[in-house]
Parts: sequence; structure tokens; C-alpha cells
Amino acid sequence: MTDKSKFIDYIDEALEKSKETALSHLLFIYQGIPYPITMCTSETFQALDTFEARSDDIVLASYPKCGSNWLLNIIIELIFAVSKRKYEYPEFPVLECGDPEKYERMKQFPSPRILATHLHHDKLPGSIHKNKAKILVIFRNPKDTAVSFFHFHNDVPDIPSYGSWDEFFRQFMKGQVSWGSYFDFATNWNKHLDDENVKLIIYEDLKKNLVDGVKQIAEFFGFSVTEEQIQTVSAQSTFQAMRAKSQETHGVVGPFLFRKGEVGDWKNLFSETQNQEMDEKFKKCLAGTYLGAKLKYDSYCQA
Ligand code: A3P
Repeated sequence: MTDKSKFIDYIDEALEKSKETALSHLLFIYQGIPYPITMCTSETFQALDTFEARSDDIVLASYPKCGSNWLLNIIIELIFAVSKRKYEYPEFPVLECGDPEKYERMKQFPSPRILATHLHHDKLPGSIHKNKAKILVIFRNPKDTAVSFFHFHNDVPDIPSYGSWDEFFRQFMKGQVSWGSYFDFATNWNKHLDDENVKLIIYEDLKKNLVDGVKQIAEFFGFSVTEEQIQTVSAQSTFQAMRAKSQETHGVVGPFLFRKGEVGDWKNLFSETQNQEMDEKFKKCLAGTYLGAKLKYDSYCQA
């Protein structure tokens, strides 16, 4: 078995658990935030406190469906460009998912380790802050994020489905979905986007200019790559390229995960009332903030 398949094995295992899980039993609360029982346990959260971060760990933070698999691919391609070494996933890359012993095993893994996470900044293990591991945070406009999240639930056969888009929207707005409220996550991270070890990237900007985004990511993590390598990494990180190899990289869930990769798909699902509700929520939580401005809500979220 290759290490790469550990990633797929973990996804298959979570899907297997999902099959037996009704939507009404999917979530459990840990320290005030709902997480899916198919991927997280309180034992693992407790063990996470013992996780020892390194200064050269590569941390990729995001709310679900904001593009974490996109960033993972860019990083893996950058590592390949500089080292000619194919990064093998020694574990499922989401830090808070898996068994409690994983943090002990991770001590043996060579640097750089890639750690994806959907946790709030203040729920990350303290050693990440103490050792100043670099953190790249990706955000996506909340309307497309909600639509992508809904489709993920309702398109992947083994993941519990919502009765309708309206039902999902209600839960999303209440923060009663896996990893909790988008807006709480955004408000929490917004306070740390100025930290010296944190860099923000916006999904819509990456979509508009992938080459420029890849360049910024390479610079932030200190990968010294040529212009030609940036072009290669970008070509391998387009939606089409990633979707084409999605079964190989993500197994059965691949084609559902790499669904559309577009900006503005929310226009196909949001009702006028839902638009207004989200616009108000955005205003209340993010208007006038640094993150609020970066998200260019008026460009991407107005009909
Ligand atoms: P859609 O459902 O709108 O297509 P995550 O990886 O955080 O779960 O996010 C998944 C979303 O990111 C999906 O959105 C997926 O298509 C999109 N995505 C993944 N790779 C992408 C790429 N290379 N370009 C654009 N979007 C991408």
C-alpha cells in the first residue's frame, strides 16, 4: 500500500461510517462547536493539545468548501518542483481528524509536514503559535461556500443528505453544520490576519489569477522556484486538471468534491429572502473589517 492511499483509505472509512449515520445524529459539540462524528472525536481533540508543531510545518486553514484541497495540491506541486520528491500523505492531512494516536506518529514524519485544518484560530494547538508555523488561510464568499457545502452533502451518495436546499440554508445560517458557523470562523480568523506568520488568500482571487496566487504562496512558504516552475504548478492546479485526476487523488468522492469550481453558482439556488438574510448577516459580522473588504462581497455576492 502506498502512503498516498492512506488519504483515500481515510476518506473511504469516513464514508463507511457516514452510511450508518442519520443527519440528525451527524454532529456532536466539542467546546461549543459542532463537528461530524464520522471524522472527529473528543478523544482526538483532547490529544490535539499534545501536538508538537514545528516552525517549518505548512498549515492550511479554511472553513469547509473554501478550497482546502486546491491549496493542498498547490503545495504538493511546489514541493515536487523544488525537491523532485512526490509528497506522500503519511496521514489524512486534516489535523483534527483521525485517531488520538496520530499526533504521536506524526513526530516521526519528515519536514515539511502539511497540516490542513478547519479549526478556529483560537482552537489550534498552542505549539503552532509558539513555534510560529506559517499559516495560509483561504476564504471564499459565503454564498458559494454554502452552495458547495450543500451539494457535497446531497451529491455524495454515502454522506447524509438534507431534505432540501432551504433546510440546509437554515442550518448553515444557524451554524448547525460540520465545523460550525462560517461567520464565527471568519470573525475569529479576521483578528489574526495581520499576524506575521499568517497569510490570507481569497478563492475568487486565486480563480482570477492562479499564476499570481501560486507565486504568492511560494514566496510566503519560502519555496525558491523559477517562473517556469510557477507556470507548471499552476497548470497542474487548474480545476480541470485537478478534476481529471480526482479519482486517483481522492477516490470515489473525487468527482463530487471537484464539482464546478466556479464563482457565482449561488445564483442558481439562493432565493431573494435568502439573499437578504445573508447580506444582513455579512454586514453585521464582516462589513468594515479587513477580511470583509478582501472578500469583495459587493462584486461577488450581489445579484
Ligand atoms: P464547488 O463545490 O463549488 O465546485 P474544499 O476543498 O475546501 O472542500 O472545497 C471544495 C470546493 O473547491 C469545490 O467547490 C471545488 O470544486 C473547489 N475547487 C477545488 N479545486 C479547485 C480548483 N483547482 N479551482 C477552482 N475551484 C476548485
